[in-house]
Amino acid sequence: MAEEAVTRSLGKVFLHRGIYFVEGLTTPEEIDSLENFSVRDTDVFLITFPKSGTVWIQQILSLIYHKGHLNKTENIKTEVRIPWIEYNIKKVDFERLPSPRLWTTHLPHYLAPKDLKKKKAKIIYVTRNPKDNMISSYYFAKTILSVTKNKDWFSSLLDLVSGEKLLGGFWFDHVKGWHSHKDDYNILFLQYEDMVKDLRSAVLKICNFVGKDLDDQTVDAIVERATFKNMKSDPLANYAHIGQQHRKTQKKSNFLRKGTIGDWKNVMTVAQNEKFDKIFGEKLKDLPIKFIWD
Ligand code: A3P
Repeated sequence: MAEEAVTRSLGKVFLHRGIYFVEGLTTPEEIDSLENFSVRDTDVFLITFPKSGTVWIQQILSLIYHKGHLNKTENIKTEVRIPWIEYNIKKVDFERLPSPRLWTTHLPHYLAPKDLKKKKAKIIYVTRNPKDNMISSYYFAKTILSVTKNKDWFSSLLDLVSGEKLLGGFWFDHVKGWHSHKDDYNILFLQYEDMVKDLRSAVLKICNFVGKDLDDQTVDAIVERATFKNMKSDPLANYAHIGQQHRKTQKKSNFLRKGTIGDWKNVMTVAQNEKFDKIFGEKLKDLPIKFIWD
């Protein structure tokens, strides 16, 4: 049921406690139950606002943890290796999964499992400069989700910060929420742009954080498999199976679109950029993250 359900449901969302979720793939009750999700000390959570590079870190974590992925002896989908806790579409009994477990979530900090605050489980939180994040969100929403279909791209973009919320809520609230509570968690912050500039360093940072001491050859192999070019053509990494019916070209992956820093410059007009800076200017001052814009 899982893939068909995803394809059918994308585009329909419901609002619960300030956040939109994909209808048919979860329920308000399931979201509420996550507060009491039983976290293990060995768990690793990847937490992102959508379109910040989630599938990228999933790929890296999967390659770090699963030899059978790295040496291509196992053909297991990423969402099975590193499931979304809020979208347990295959109704897996999470309690029965062996440790160490890897998880993904787009939840804001106030909906996350309470146990995470015990600080033993590890969290990797990825941010991306909001202009590129929003442009990536817009194209994704346009091709897969129907949420923004009838809007022009710029008003859809602004929805993420001050208008109609999209999946994940408001970008600013998500990033600020997790960042301002960072001392409550065992959390590593990564920036998408740092990964684009130096993928090997990012892989080493992740290995170090999760306590994996890999030899140079293995690290090189992980980096190679996590490049944009290789992920885009790798069906295990690019989620080509998600939302296929919504696409004009069947095999095209909407998760890996351009994979660059500064695409906003190709899309936004000077006036739009000024408007964006005005809206974000005040808000960004509160965030102690130095964003990389190009
Ligand atoms: P673009 O739409 O700007 O290309 P998410 O996984 O959170 O949905 O994020 C998707 C974004 O991450 C897309 O951005 C995608 O191209 C980018 N991405 C995924 N894998 C990448 C990689 N290996 N290198 C660079 N960018 C990557």
